Amino acid sequence: MTVESKVPAATVPNDLDSYWLPFTPNRAFKRAPRLFSRAKDMHYYTPEGRAVLDGIAGMWCTNAGHNRDPIVAAIKRQAEELDYAPAFQFAHPKSFELASRVAALAPGDLNRVFFCNSGSEAVDTALKIALAYHNVRGEGARTRLIGRERGYHGVGFGGISVGGIVNNRKMFGTLLAGVDHLPATYNREQQAFTKGEPEWGAHLADDLERIVTLHDASTIAAVIVEPMAGSTGVLPPPRGYLERLRAICDRHGILLIFDEVITGFGRLGHAFAAERYGVTPDMITFAKGITSGAVPMGGVIARDGIYETFMRGPEHVIELFHGYTYSAHPLACAAGLATLDLYRDEKLFERAKTLEQHFADAAMSLKGLPGVLDIRALGLCAGIDLASRPGAVGLRAYEAMERAFHDEGLLVRVAGETLALSPPLIVSESEIGEIFEKVGRVIRVVG
Ligand SMILES: Cc1ncc(COP(=O)(O)O)c(C=O)c1O
Repeated sequence: MTVESKVPAATVPNDLDSYWLPFTPNRAFKRAPRLFSRAKDMHYYTPEGRAVLDGIAGMWCTNAGHNRDPIVAAIKRQAEELDYAPAFQFAHPKSFELASRVAALAPGDLNRVFFCNSGSEAVDTALKIALAYHNVRGEGARTRLIGRERGYHGVGFGGISVGGIVNNRKMFGTLLAGVDHLPATYNREQQAFTKGEPEWGAHLADDLERIVTLHDASTIAAVIVEPMAGSTGVLPPPRGYLERLRAICDRHGILLIFDEVITGFGRLGHAFAAERYGVTPDMITFAKGITSGAVPMGGVIARDGIYETFMRGPEHVIELFHGYTYSAHPLACAAGLATLDLYRDEKLFERAKTLEQHFADAAMSLKGLPGVLDIRALGLCAGIDLASRPGAVGLRAYEAMERAFHDEGLLVRVAGETLALSPPLIVSESEIGEIFEKVGRVIRVVG
């Protein structure tokens, strides 16, 4: 199988067989490939030149829109100036500059930034810092990690262990030992068709007390949750839930980690969801929006007290035996700085907040269409649950995604039987209208 390409035929045949696509049904994809070869602002373009409206910011990451000139220029300049600097024992100036800028966006005393290359690495980094922190403090028995059902924390062994998606876990052995899960916060009977945070469900945080009673607080290192679960279909936190989780963690000396890989950098109308909810976790993981998707980057923001706990012992000795060859890669730092400038100069986080109500109204306009069981909307995100066809869970949403791409020129994301929308924060009101009109037509076709 071959596809059109600009690579001259004489070099390498552009063959579909070699590439094993991640999280993709490979055989179905290779029968009818969905390819993008170019992008600008709100649109992708296929190799044939067809425009596709980006309803999901790539994969929740291109928050500033695609191929923005200042980001492209910064990456080009950086590539000419410094390709790589060793990340261990050496550094380059932009890594410090970007860390300071990220710290300034984070609430409270979340001031120490550790860089890596993806959300999965950010999660593993945060879990390891949590374990090591307790160890250094002389509470090395605190080894248990608590995640949540329906949580997504990437695909490292740490992330799938605390994560709560059965398909991501069931093939991969015993995972990390000593992990428990809080219940998911979603309940359709209580919450269906809620705009923003549902009223019902804050009490679900109290399950942490049950886990503490079962294991004793002295064995528990950290709790990790997404403030809004994104990848399992946009599940907003119930009102008061995160505050309650914070209070229980405080009561028992347990670290609270917010995985803000999706919710960071404006998705919910603030730099971080922690600010939206007025809840300061002990660590925040981030990725995606830090560079608007242009160069891979992730990281962990830790409170001052966590960092300072490690700063003991002889000064020539490494304090945390952890890091990546490409931590704070120069191209990622340059892209990150240009991206943060764009967010600031174009007030994109505020823009997301201003558009939130309009976006939610447009999403809810699909209520009543065939097979629509629930719609949730928060910030510039929406999740639309479709009824499964008998014996074919996920097929209807999968077909909706295919039809959206091929027939409507719209990129949507599928999670199980849920369609997710999360456009770049530069989306206009008329483009929001266009997105949901297209989604509506697709739902009718697959209904
Ligand atoms: C909350 C959350 N954590 C972690 C990840 C993993 O990020 P990555 O795919 O960059 O490893 C994701 C990806 O969607 C995510 O949504």
